[in-house]
Amino acid sequence: MDKIALKIRIFGDPVLRKKAKPVKQVTPEHRIILSEMARMMYAEQGVGLAALQVGICESMIVVDIGKGLYKLINPVITKKEGFQYIEEGCLSVPGICIEVKRAAKVTVKAQDDDSKPLIIEAEGLLACVFQHEIDHLNGKLIIDRASIVDKLKIKKRLEQLKKRSEHEK
Ligand code: NI
Repeated sequence: MDKIALKIRIFGDPVLRKKAKPVKQVTPEHRIILSEMARMMYAEQGVGLAALQVGICESMIVVDIGKGLYKLINPVITKKEGFQYIEEGCLSVPGICIEVKRAAKVTVKAQDDDSKPLIIEAEGLLACVFQHEIDHLNGKLIIDRASIVDKLKIKKRLEQLKKRSEHEK
């Protein structure tokens, strides 16, 4: 694969509700996709992006909260501790920012893009972003974790996004 043209998928696109498949073997193609995902994340000033958000149904994420880039394959949370509330946005749900309850500390098990196993301990914002991106790999979005009040507040905006997404098909 020499050329790659990925697009960030917006709420209403059914791919966002799929479950990512584990990557059995890391190939040069996976490395190209991860690099392109990182480029797109920086271009959109995001702090994380999951492969499903660019239409690829495989278990891969990129994360950078300004302290270094993580390119993770098959990430899973193996330990959670405490809780925190952080306002979150999502490149697939533009214009929406909601407070989400997350674990305060997490341990993430994954592989890097050379298949090397990794164990990452994270807290605060980094822990939050890992949980957000791993949610994406399970077809879950921040809007699913919104309070009832927030769900009502964002209802109209979601309808707009859904229409836009249908229009783009
Ligand atoms: Ni997101």
